[in-house]
Amino acid sequence: MRHQVVIIGAGPSGLLLGALLHQAGIDTLILEQRSPDYVLSRIRAGVLEQGTVNLLRRVGAGARLDREGLVHEGFAINFAGEALRIDLKALTGGSSVTVYGQTEVTRDLMALRVASGAPTIYDAEAVTIHDFDRDTPRVSFVQDGQHREIACDIIAGCDGFHGVSRASVPETALRTFERVYPFGWLGVLADVPPCAHELIYAGHDRGFALCSMRSMTRSRYYIQCRLDETPESWPDTLFWDELRRRLDPEAAARVVPGPAIEKSVAPLRSFVAEPLRFGRLFLAGDAAHIVPPTGAKGLNLAASDVHYLSEALIAFFGEGTASALDTYSARALDRIWKAERFSWWMTTLLHRFETSSPFERRMQDAEFAYLRISQHARATVAENYVGLPF
Ligand code: APR
Ligand code: PHB
Repeated sequence: MRHQVVIIGAGPSGLLLGALLHQAGIDTLILEQRSPDYVLSRIRAGVLEQGTVNLLRRVGAGARLDREGLVHEGFAINFAGEALRIDLKALTGGSSVTVYGQTEVTRDLMALRVASGAPTIYDAEAVTIHDFDRDTPRVSFVQDGQHREIACDIIAGCDGFHGVSRASVPETALRTFERVYPFGWLGVLADVPPCAHELIYAGHDRGFALCSMRSMTRSRYYIQCRLDETPESWPDTLFWDELRRRLDPEAAARVVPGPAIEKSVAPLRSFVAEPLRFGRLFLAGDAAHIVPPTGAKGLNLAASDVHYLSEALIAFFGEGTASALDTYSARALDRIWKAERFSWWMTTLLHRFETSSPFERRMQDAEFAYLRISQHARATVAENYVGLPF
């Protein structure tokens, strides 16, 4: 068996890359180690940049997003109980973001893939990549107990942070950069109306909190927690009380508590691998980098990566020259580092670090005070939040 491109991983990166390549007439196989239901059970972030929305529309996965997505023209930063609106639309000359869950993006891309007739193999076990340092790479795996092997021209590693692709690169060929934050986010999904019509990012002495939503009847809330805490350490009533304590009084009064339909703790990490190309193997999305969720950049970075990668691969298969592949890593990394900077900055501004000195706390206060008085500072936040161009 042979395909032009084997894509490892059917998360948003792999599915979107598959759609972009299919549209260009390039033949792809997606190999996913989990089941479709498992992939769809992962609850993740939900803010799409305009560039991501445009890409989804371009591949034909934009219809439900256009119907159900909530366009947000601003969001609030609360600091020590005081609210400040970042007017995205006014500060960026007309840009906004769309609130639409990553799970729904994945669902739409999966349906598109099925409709296109392009193959995806779920529940693939022992996926192993071979010979990507030659022009004839191969991928082997086990399906229903049978060993199988696929020849290809290109392997796209879209298999997330714990995937096999990055792990297969010799250590000496890879440089990694990492910051692990000493706290996590406890997330709660509940079928209650959101406390505000825009997102609220709150920095507070007791720790960070975020008010987000999936629809006008479904809310997504997060609070900063310790890494040793579990969903069981946070019964619903404790969670709602703690959330309200960290918000400004007006938002706190509008929080409608309700039973959690999902509750989980996620660690926060910044991570980048360099480069993103190793012969015929390319890394994209969480396989290549992680951002803390504070800037809502994870899914959007995955989208810009696969946009650049699809351009390189379309030129490669069109022109038949390997030089088209050379540009991907540098182009993608340039945008990745800028999103890493913004996510790190927002995380550092709004979280409570137990080890921070009185000086560092005053720096957080001063940063917020500056945002309050400076439209330039707010415009910088807005420009990054709506997404740098790609
Ligand atoms: N073989 C096949 N598939 C694999 C393997 C493997 N060895 N390892 C992991 N996978 C699959 C996972 O099961 C998952 O479905 O790869 C997929 C990777 O998907 P994601 O982790 O969602 O990563 P990505 O598609 O890059 O999406 C990035 O998702 O994690 C969020 O915040 C992140 O929003 C960002 C987005
Ligand atoms: C979410 O809705 O899950 C969400 C929104 C914004 C973020 C992170 C997560 O920055």
